[in-house]
Amino acid sequence: MQYGYGKLILFGEHFVVYGLPGIASSIGLYTRCQLYPNKTGIKVRDRLTNKNIVLGENKQEILDRAMQIILKETGLGGKNFRLEIDGDIPVFGGLGSSAALIVSIIRELNEHYKLKLSNEQVNEIAFKAEHVFHGNPSGIDNTASTYRSLLWFEKNLSGGKNKIELLKCKKPLLVVIGNTKIIHDTVETVAEVKKKKEKEPKKFDKIFEDAKELVFQARNALEKGDLPKTGELINENQELLQEIGVSSPELDLLCKASVENGALGAKLTGAGMGGCMFALCPDKKTQEKVAQAIRKKGFDSYITSVGV
Ligand code: MEV
Repeated sequence: MQYGYGKLILFGEHFVVYGLPGIASSIGLYTRCQLYPNKTGIKVRDRLTNKNIVLGENKQEILDRAMQIILKETGLGGKNFRLEIDGDIPVFGGLGSSAALIVSIIRELNEHYKLKLSNEQVNEIAFKAEHVFHGNPSGIDNTASTYRSLLWFEKNLSGGKNKIELLKCKKPLLVVIGNTKIIHDTVETVAEVKKKKEKEPKKFDKIFEDAKELVFQARNALEKGDLPKTGELINENQELLQEIGVSSPELDLLCKASVENGALGAKLTGAGMGGCMFALCPDKKTQEKVAQAIRKKGFDSYITSVGV
């Protein structure tokens, strides 16, 4: 059985699509994939989305299309097997469930068929398969899932290798993830931003400049272990995301409740317009308090830590 992990974008979602830097980390929520023998053909059962496919029966089905890419890239077309997938990562919530799903499948095939794929190869295949789910993804989700680390990411807009640097924080970041449970569509949200950017280029140029500067400052604060500064920058990043129109009343409500309960900063994570937010907390006690405040508002919360 092999795992694919979810991700938290700490800084830079949406802006990364345009080649600006972003900082993301894998988290403990996961999908896992187990391969069983099968007499003929390939079957996949994904318990997280309740999808069952027999490969090739419905070629429009997203999972079928993703599997076709994975098989082509791994050279495993023609094999017979059954994949069972489950996990604890919320789907369509901004935590990288599709990337985690793909990575768990590639890793399980790698293990079973002894393909000896490096992380770089797993990530490249996952990036290709992510296109089926996300149209034109930056690649930050599959990268965080593959490398299981805090990392710096820059999409190469000319199609070459994306820039990936593994980062370490001085101190682990104690975070609370809040889930609005409002399902969002990443493709639509990314397309909305593009439309707005084309309509108001001057306004967006300024926001993009600020977003770029902010991620460099965030890296510095993280590497120095400056939590108050990191929190401040998380709040600033949320303001930029509000300005480009991807926050929502529920996300804003949870960010506000988190800060009121002692979080150093809070922002949406992923595509926004629903999905998840996270709050950076100074200590475990505050983490509990923030998680409870989110639950009191009627939403799910998860306590976790990232960055080490
Ligand atoms: C989605 O998790 C993050 C976005 O920046 C899209 C992407 O990077 O592909 C919104």
